[in-house]
Amino acid sequence: MNQSGIQHYLDAAKQSANWHSQYKKDMKKCRFDTIAVHGIYSMQEALDFNQGSIIEPIYMASSQAYRDSDEMEAALSYQIPTWCYSRIGNPSMYYLEGVLALLETYGTDLDANCCATSSGMAAIFSACEPFLSVDPRRPDAPMNFVATCQVYGGTFQQFAIRKHMEKGAEWRKVIHSADLSEWEKLIDENTRFLYGEMPSNPSQAFFDLENVAKLAHKHGIPLIIDNTVGSPALLRPLAWGADIVIQSVTKSLTTSGFGIAGAVIAPKNLDLKIENEALKADFATYIKALPNRDNGPNISPMNAILTLNDIRTLRSKMDLMSRNTMKVAEYLENHKNIEQVDYLGLKSHPLHQLAKKYMVLVDSEYDDLYHKKVNRYGHLMSFRVKGDRQNTRDVFDAFQRIWRATDLGRIKSVATIPAISTHQQQGEEARNMADIPPNLIRLCVGAEHADDILKDLDQALAVLDGKKVKCSSPGFSAGGASSARLRR
Ligand SMILES: Cc1ncc(COP(=O)(O)O)c(C=O)c1O
Repeated sequence: MNQSGIQHYLDAAKQSANWHSQYKKDMKKCRFDTIAVHGIYSMQEALDFNQGSIIEPIYMASSQAYRDSDEMEAALSYQIPTWCYSRIGNPSMYYLEGVLALLETYGTDLDANCCATSSGMAAIFSACEPFLSVDPRRPDAPMNFVATCQVYGGTFQQFAIRKHMEKGAEWRKVIHSADLSEWEKLIDENTRFLYGEMPSNPSQAFFDLENVAKLAHKHGIPLIIDNTVGSPALLRPLAWGADIVIQSVTKSLTTSGFGIAGAVIAPKNLDLKIENEALKADFATYIKALPNRDNGPNISPMNAILTLNDIRTLRSKMDLMSRNTMKVAEYLENHKNIEQVDYLGLKSHPLHQLAKKYMVLVDSEYDDLYHKKVNRYGHLMSFRVKGDRQNTRDVFDAFQRIWRATDLGRIKSVATIPAISTHQQQGEEARNMADIPPNLIRLCVGAEHADDILKDLDQALAVLDGKKVKCSSPGFSAGGASSARLRR
């Protein structure tokens, strides 16, 4: 490479990098809502490069052009900040990554980066896989990872089939994750990482994050947390010592339901025993620029911007949806047709006190409504219907306002029966282990007025009293299959 030819690109890049880094530092001083609304998109950037557009533009281009070969070579060897090609990066993706890194580290001094991916599953894959590479000095050494068994069904499949069965990376399952000694006894010198989902989907497993992080660090391995359900508005695992956070951005972060996306967020300079300096120096940038460049799971620009628009009001939505969920949980807890309600917000939940330590509405102490820290437990709850599986299906089929869908974190209330949907593939034995019985309905309460959701639940549960005829659907439907179902 002609060093003198590229020098002015390197100088300009340094100047630009300094400016962006200072801008991020300034944004970091703002409150959560301000960061969520503005992200890292500045007025200066809008005016100088984006025709004044007040909203982050969607860069639909597949690639970036360079002024000459010097700039191209410097860019493709990652000597200057660049996005090159949209499989690796893209300015729209960069705006999303910037805001997520700031929100997940809100209230801390941590300097983090983010790699946005095409789905939550791609984020889990991107976060875990770099720790499951063969050690060249001990190529035959076994490897394992320790993870909670209460995880989303897709995560269960990725761990049980893709990693454990196909790759030979043993998944050591923590069954009672609130019991620290269970984690401890599963770890050995071949353990590559610890992984937990909290609160878990759908059974609300929860553990003492701070102490599990300490345990991981005692062994020089990372703790990876799936923070999908809480979102950074209610829980920020990096502040409690977790090393890497993954998000199914599809969920709480994209409440509108406009798309599928994921993210991996990690602070710089991870203190781990793994011998990979680039990985430790800046994990998110490492996976984005290297493994994900080669494997291709990063996000598309359109999805990045759709999500960005939802994130702007994240805190107030998570507050409202949590309050609605609390009302629903309290109502169901006292309903005669309900066997059990699982919601961390209920005082009766065995993990309520533990969850109380971690799940707090961010900045509630600066909110005119509250003036103090208030606990919020999110939009995800589950309940078990009394009687056999058919009773559960009857109640589920009778919902009129709540949508039947394998989705969560939506602005509209959605429900599913995990045993026949999200957690069907893992089989009955694994469902029993994760405490997901066939009579469990997962309900994610949206932002409707809570009274209307209560009314819907009330009329749906009334089918078990024989008070009501089963289906009162309108007599039309656009889809042939659903028309047939309505006629039955
Ligand atoms: C807790 C959790 N993590 C990860 C995922 C996977 O995310 P995605 O569907 O965006 O791939 C889901 C999906 O439901 C989830 O609930």
